[in-house]
Amino acid sequence: MAKQFDVLVIGGGPGGYVAAIRAAQLGFNTACCESESYDDPKGEVRLGGTCLNVGCIPSKALLQSSEHFDNARHGFVMHGISTGEVAIDVKTMVKRKDNIVTQLTGGIKGLFKKNKVTLLSGHGKFTGGGEDGWEVDVAGEAVVAKHVIVATGSRPRHLDGIPVDNKLICDNAGALAFDAVPKRLGVIGAGVIGLELGSVWKRLGAEVTILEALPEFLAAADAAVAKEAWKVFTKKQGLDIRLGVKIGKVASGKKGITVEYEMGDESHVLECDKLIVSVGRVPNTEGLGCEAVGLQLDERGRVAVDDHCRSNLPNVWAVGDVVRGPMLAHKGMEEGVMVAELIAGQAGHCNYDAVPWVIYTHPEIAWVGKTEQQLKSAGVEYRAGQIPFSANGRALGQGETSGFIKMLADAKTDQILGVHVIGTNASELISEAVVAMEFHASSEDIARIVHAHPTLSEVMHEAALSVDKRPLHF
Ligand code: FAD
Ligand code: NAI
Repeated sequence: MAKQFDVLVIGGGPGGYVAAIRAAQLGFNTACCESESYDDPKGEVRLGGTCLNVGCIPSKALLQSSEHFDNARHGFVMHGISTGEVAIDVKTMVKRKDNIVTQLTGGIKGLFKKNKVTLLSGHGKFTGGGEDGWEVDVAGEAVVAKHVIVATGSRPRHLDGIPVDNKLICDNAGALAFDAVPKRLGVIGAGVIGLELGSVWKRLGAEVTILEALPEFLAAADAAVAKEAWKVFTKKQGLDIRLGVKIGKVASGKKGITVEYEMGDESHVLECDKLIVSVGRVPNTEGLGCEAVGLQLDERGRVAVDDHCRSNLPNVWAVGDVVRGPMLAHKGMEEGVMVAELIAGQAGHCNYDAVPWVIYTHPEIAWVGKTEQQLKSAGVEYRAGQIPFSANGRALGQGETSGFIKMLADAKTDQILGVHVIGTNASELISEAVVAMEFHASSEDIARIVHAHPTLSEVMHEAALSVDKRPLHF
């Protein structure tokens, strides 16, 4: 007889495991199936999905280690600290990263136990059913659930003719597990992964060349932020980023990898020892049995959903990277909570206008809301306030003076429309702006909030004041 649940979640990444925990908290008999073991030494499935195993968490661990290394070599000197010769033991660095991943993925299994979520190991696939109960095959076992939440996530997009072996030519999984610093690292794609992982290996001593198809750098970011980032990454940090390239033949052999590419009218060849391919991600819907039940996909192969993550089928929902919207862990988690609460008849909500973006380079880049170019092209009248970190006492004390905060507010109502940060701790600073946008605050609201002194948050305060052209310290 089939196992029966109120809610079955397919996929144990941030979207799925959070949906499962919230559904169980709300009193539903909940199961979550996960198929991937992510090289677990015991071969057991691991929870946490891309984010915990081969994404957010391991990349941030390596970014932190490499930043310490870079500071020891170059950053401490200005404080009068000399370190002598500094060495990196990549194996120890990678082991530390692996331990963090193991701790966190194991922690989610603990959270499942605590919340009484049943973990089913194996691939989930719709086989039939309907509104009163969907039938899903999990590794040969029949499961029936009244509600199914699809949270199958995404995988790296690979390019034709560039075979990823995760040894020489790597996607994110391989690029997080190098056992030594490559002398010459090539990266295809100057997006979030290319910049974060390019930064890691650059700081550790690799010569890094990033080949980007678009003629524009960081097109999704505010143009002023992208310009500042370009200056810091290329001029100060020495990342060699080449824009407007068309990748040709890629070959690998004993002497390394060669990447033929065109830039303008010229043909070039990049020689490198490792190559990272980071050109975006594709949704995981293959083998999900969509056709068996008529689950509709959109033009990009994602599960088609409305603003509340409802699919075309009754009681079938989808969240996270497998649906429209930014491929971000926190967006998926929020959708997971929303869906569980909607199933419980509550007013689940996810404010897509206030989802922050963070790029964990140094300086960090973070934003929420609209960019200046988006407001211009939509014909929205706005006022802008921008303050550099170099005008802030705490930033000077920390020796972290590059970058700025820019606030954009509606010219008539003063409601905050977007906030853009490039600078140290941008990932934390953006939270104030997210709260402000969530509660439809104005720049005047931020200007009237007491900000502790001396803190980096005073730059946010001054940016708000400068929207009204009355900054006090700039
Ligand atoms: P996933 O995390 O992809 O999880 C889906 C899970 O479902 C997987 O474990 C998969 O094995 C499983 N699955 C798939 N199909 C089935 C099936 N049929 N049956 C059973 N199980 C199945 N986002 C951020 O917000 N911040 C960051 O700093 C950040 N850094 C990143 C760094 C890198 C290198 C990468 C690659 C991504 C990063 N992301 C970051 C993006 C983030 O990882 C994703 O947005 C997030 O993991 C999406 O969560 P998800 O639950 O939708 O999918
Ligand atoms: P991305 O979409 O951020 O960047 C891909 C880049 O590759 C783009 O600039 C694109 O123009 C370029 N590109 C595409 N095809 C190309 C080609 N043939 N040749 C050269 N360049 C090409 O995707 P990325 O970096 O793979 O990351 C995937 C997603 O993972 C991100 O979009 C983001 O959603 C998530 N992520 C989030 C992070 C964070 O929140 N800090 C960190 C890393 C990933």
